[in-house]
Amino acid sequence: MEISNGLEDVCIKNTALTFIDGEKGVLRYRGYGIKDLVEKCSYEEVSFLMLFGELPDRKELAQFTSDIQKGYALPEFTRRVISSLPDDSDALSVFETAFASLSCGEDGFVWSRENIARKAPEALGRASAVVAAAFRHMVDKEMKMPVPTDSYAGSFLNACFDGDVSRQSVTVMNRALVLYADHEVPASTTAAIVSCSTLSDMYSSIAAAVAALKGPLHGGAAEAAYAQFEDIGSPENVDSWFQKNVVEGRRRLMGFGHRVYRTYDPRMAIFKSMARELSTSAEEKRTLEIAEKLEKLGVERFSPKQIFPNTDFYSGTAFKCIGFPIHMFTALFALSRTVGWIAHMSEYIENGGRIMRPRANYTGHGPRVLQSASQK
Ligand code: SDX
Repeated sequence: MEISNGLEDVCIKNTALTFIDGEKGVLRYRGYGIKDLVEKCSYEEVSFLMLFGELPDRKELAQFTSDIQKGYALPEFTRRVISSLPDDSDALSVFETAFASLSCGEDGFVWSRENIARKAPEALGRASAVVAAAFRHMVDKEMKMPVPTDSYAGSFLNACFDGDVSRQSVTVMNRALVLYADHEVPASTTAAIVSCSTLSDMYSSIAAAVAALKGPLHGGAAEAAYAQFEDIGSPENVDSWFQKNVVEGRRRLMGFGHRVYRTYDPRMAIFKSMARELSTSAEEKRTLEIAEKLEKLGVERFSPKQIFPNTDFYSGTAFKCIGFPIHMFTALFALSRTVGWIAHMSEYIENGGRIMRPRANYTGHGPRVLQSASQK
């Protein structure tokens, strides 16, 4: 059998959720362009769109928002699980552990339209509470559950930080949540689909997705890309760092390349403009200058191979400017992508998706007679 390494060009489902044109750098959710959605919609509206097919009217949005807010109060046992984790746990590991704990009591979960309509908003609310709790645990502060405010992004940031959260931070967080909400079937969404294809429950399947997202080739790239800027240290070092590490050391430039995009990832430009808007301190401006110089060198070297910067190249810079440390970046990606994972799983089951069971070509021994060790 022909092997497709990394499932390249293998189609596992039809979808009406997200359209990507990798040649032209186009991304649409349910037919709406990503730029329009980022500028005009809240994450709650985009989540409703992804789950139910249309943008909500005022009444639907109010009900959906209220259902999300019911998920803000994490069960006591999940809070205890989070508190029991080592202080230096990265936020995504906390997310993975917390969502696995939320699968307790989900036996017999049914993938029905009614059940998803009930459980999806709860999961979005719980994701916000878990990531906020992970952050507070990381910075050794007492856990705060999100409380209803005028936005999902605002409630989340208020559960993370003490004191007032600026409107600008809420706007940027909302845009980041919309940008990362879905992207067809990358490794993490595929992991979720493999899990739900056995009729495993929603929380277990989300935990499977988070495990796949963690790797530096996927969601972990947001942190790995920013770590490059920190390693370079100053704009004057960019050229020598690039020559030593990428050209001679043949290290991958993190935040560059994509299995689908053969041009710029359309999300990158939006994150870049947010990073520019937010970078006001001397340190932020220096990091941005490093990033932009690195981007230029990367494009010069790799664009002939159709390798361009992706969404993760600047997202960390924007997150850092809001006040998040590097080991929060992938958890913020996962927070947003929770709705994409649920929407794709629900669509897969609803469209009659069967249990995932690929094959492998056998290349081992032919039949052998077992001699007991003593006969040797
Ligand atoms: C995300 O799929 C999605 O939609 C994911 C995502 C989403 O929203 O869910 O968009 C989010 O994960 C974005 C990608 C973030 N990852 C990184 O930034 C990590 C660095 N990028 C790569 O490792 C790589 O580009 C991948 C993983 C993203 C894609 O890998 P592929 O398609 O399997 O390509 P490959 O590893 O087979 O590389 C093909 C060639 C190789 O060169 P040769 O060995 O053929 O000479 O391109 C080279 C690679 O060395 N290459 C790179 C490179 N990416 C690919 N060389 C240097 N730097 C890079 N970043």
